[in-house]
Amino acid sequence: MTILITGATGLIGTALTSQLLDQGHTVHFLTTRKEKIITTPNHKGFYWNPTNHDIDLHAFKDVSCVVNLVGATIAKRWTTAYKEMIISSRVQTTNLLYKSLKILDHKVTSFISASGISIYPNSKNTVYTELSKDVAANFLGQVVVAWEASADQFFDLGIEVAKIRTGLVFDASQGAFPRMIQPIKMGIPSIVGDGAQWISWIHIDDVVAIYNHAITKNLRGVYNAVAPVAITNKKFTDLVASYYKIPMWAPNVPGFLLRLFLGSMSSLALEGQQVSVLKLEKTGFKFKYPTLGQALNYLLKK
Ligand SMILES: NC(=O)c1ccc[n+]([C@@H]2O[C@H](COP(=O)([O-])OP(=O)(O)OC[C@H]3O[C@@H](n4cnc5c(N)ncnc54)[C@H](OP(=O)(O)O)[C@@H]3O)[C@@H](O)[C@H]2O)c1
Repeated sequence: MTILITGATGLIGTALTSQLLDQGHTVHFLTTRKEKIITTPNHKGFYWNPTNHDIDLHAFKDVSCVVNLVGATIAKRWTTAYKEMIISSRVQTTNLLYKSLKILDHKVTSFISASGISIYPNSKNTVYTELSKDVAANFLGQVVVAWEASADQFFDLGIEVAKIRTGLVFDASQGAFPRMIQPIKMGIPSIVGDGAQWISWIHIDDVVAIYNHAITKNLRGVYNAVAPVAITNKKFTDLVASYYKIPMWAPNVPGFLLRLFLGSMSSLALEGQQVSVLKLEKTGFKFKYPTLGQALNYLLKK
């Protein structure tokens, strides 16, 4: 089958692409970086510039499934201009895909979009399911609502839509994980805030497997995508410190200090939520790394 991936050059997209190619699929991808374009018979890159509404429509040739992973990182300082970029790189891009399919004679039957568990409010006690109507009253809540609404437009074209509400993706060398363990490795195992905030993480192999599962099993609707066992910030720090045999001597990083330096972006470190993955598991999905202990054996050895 031919699958079109946006954001294919990123953390999840790179790993998903290589798995789909190994399985014999053809992968097309849209990139804003012309130097990333490659053209082989089963792996083809196409240029787009969503800001200018510029897109190479050849990208959709023979495509039956679109996997939408595009989005500017949220791990950069949230200035007003950058917040705008976080939203537009998700919504304007998805709108451009929608407008393209609207005018094309195409074969697309499914649209699988990245989304985030940050749609759910910060909570220490609630376990959110996909049925929850609670939306975080903050910037990320607003981003995810707009992002999912842009994905839902594809229903109008008779295309099935799946939204994968992803937690924090842990990879040994890229993304949040190496940055989170850096101070601990350097001997400063500081808990952030009171340490009771949840980290709903997922191993990169599992999130890639979930996208693959969504493609092959034709998943429709909203699915939470996190490891079944979340961890608190304190437990995370303890586990990594004990792996490196570092005593827990360091003082906590006070929440007010993070708020002072990072503003609303401090919510990334100080807030969290627990979400249920029962809906995904009922579709037959099996996690390779259900607990952080299992994942750390691989993440820290690399
Ligand atoms: N990683 C996580 O922990 C996590 C958690 C929850 C949700 N997600 C979501 O899952 C998706 C994939 O995540 P990821 O970690 O693989 O992302 P990533 O590594 O940051 O890659 C995202 C890709 O999006 C494209 N992109 C970035 N900024 C853009 C812009 N302003 N305009 C157009 N394209 C832009 C880039 O592709 P080109 O340079 O090729 O154009 C980039 O490779 C994202 O939407 C992300 O928000 C990720």
